[in-house]
Amino acid sequence: MSTFLPLVAPSLLSANFLHLQSDIDHVTKAGADWLHIDVMDGHYVPNLSFGPEWVRQIRKATSLPIDVHLMVSCVDKCIDDFAAAGANHLTIHPEAVYHPHGCLQKIKQLGLKAGIALNPGTGLEVLYPLLDQVDLILVMTVNPGFGGQKFLPEMMVKIRALRAFLDKEKPDISIVVDGGLNDQSAPLVVEAGAQVLVAGSYLFSDSSETLADRVQKLRGFHGK
Ligand code: DX5
Ligand code: ZN
Repeated sequence: MSTFLPLVAPSLLSANFLHLQSDIDHVTKAGADWLHIDVMDGHYVPNLSFGPEWVRQIRKATSLPIDVHLMVSCVDKCIDDFAAAGANHLTIHPEAVYHPHGCLQKIKQLGLKAGIALNPGTGLEVLYPLLDQVDLILVMTVNPGFGGQKFLPEMMVKIRALRAFLDKEKPDISIVVDGGLNDQSAPLVVEAGAQVLVAGSYLFSDSSETLADRVQKLRGFHGK
């Protein structure tokens, strides 16, 4: 097991929207490091979820960094709105925009951390011309659109290759892994090089274990 302690970013997509403040308080108390917000527009992905107004409200409900994952086609139009709403990180899908480099530049100029998301079918080559504008690389281990999907183990090869590449070329860029993470899959992706773990259904589903225990298990601590 790695000695590195990965960050945990609960995905609010699986939270109870009617009790969002209490879910945020619970995951914060359980040790969450960031809050992950999946923005979906019914176009780039079939699902619909949060808009900037949600982020504005959530900003008032937490002091944790707000990590916004934009699964939308209108990236250029909505960067300003999510920045003004209080997001700390904005991650875009390069396939969703005409000018990913320009979008990342704009995110950084606004003072936010900029991220690139890699779908399961997207290779690492897309990153190479963008690396100077990137703080985070989010590797999707499910196809984007829905929480509660099964982890794709074939993405392990990509995480390992990305870790090796970044260690050599850009060690300051963080690897975020998103999709299907639980007490079994999360330790594997950490061992492969992930530094941030996004988890929705594993943390927010009913369980006999405490949230704090689940957060610890994501980080690879078992039997506590
Ligand atoms: C999927 C989202 C994920 C999702 C993760 O499109 O990007 O962040 O909420 O949910 P789980 O952990 O249930 O796979
Ligand atoms: Zn996400």
